[in-house]
Amino acid sequence: MGDESSHGSLKAEMSIFKILMMKKTAIVYFLLLTFFTATILTSCTKGFIPEDDITPNPPTNPGGTVTYQTHISSVISNSCIGCHGGSNPEGNLLLESYTQVRSATENGTLIQRINDATDPMPTSGLLPAQTRALFDEWVQNGYLEN
Ligand code: HEC
Repeated sequence: MGDESSHGSLKAEMSIFKILMMKKTAIVYFLLLTFFTATILTSCTKGFIPEDDITPNPPTNPGGTVTYQTHISSVISNSCIGCHGGSNPEGNLLLESYTQVRSATENGTLIQRINDATDPMPTSGLLPAQTRALFDEWVQNGYLEN
């Protein structure tokens, strides 16, 4: 009888040990699975978004001064130069140089048209407000070139 009870408690100890081991294995599997899922997901998102599907982030200006070179010219070349560049620009308006962009901004037409919801420039639709605000800051800063 005494033998049986000690055998029984040994059995119980063994099964607790087994459960603990199983739990450990489960935790290890869980960690591995999480790791692999994370790795696969990261590589998928990187691999499956073609480069040209990533819309260029609108230039932001965290605390810096807006200048033609750092902010304005990239907006112009991304959104305007296709129609306002070359030998026969739309609206007879060239926006290829600092001087040209500055004079269109100074005479008010550029800022008016980029904010004109019914007749916007670019013609495809208003730019993000953040991007349009760069032009206002540029004016306030006195049309800095660099
Ligand atoms: C898809 C072609 C296209 C794009 C892109 C485009 N424009 Fe235009 N833009 C035109 C056409 C066409 C006109 C002339 C007709 C009109 O005024 O709507 C014009 C006219 C203008 C005028 C008025 C010129 C004047 O003397 O009255 C301004 C200012 C202007 N665009 C600024 C811009 C700016 C700034 C951008 C970029 C943010 C831009 N445009 C992008 C086609 C374009």
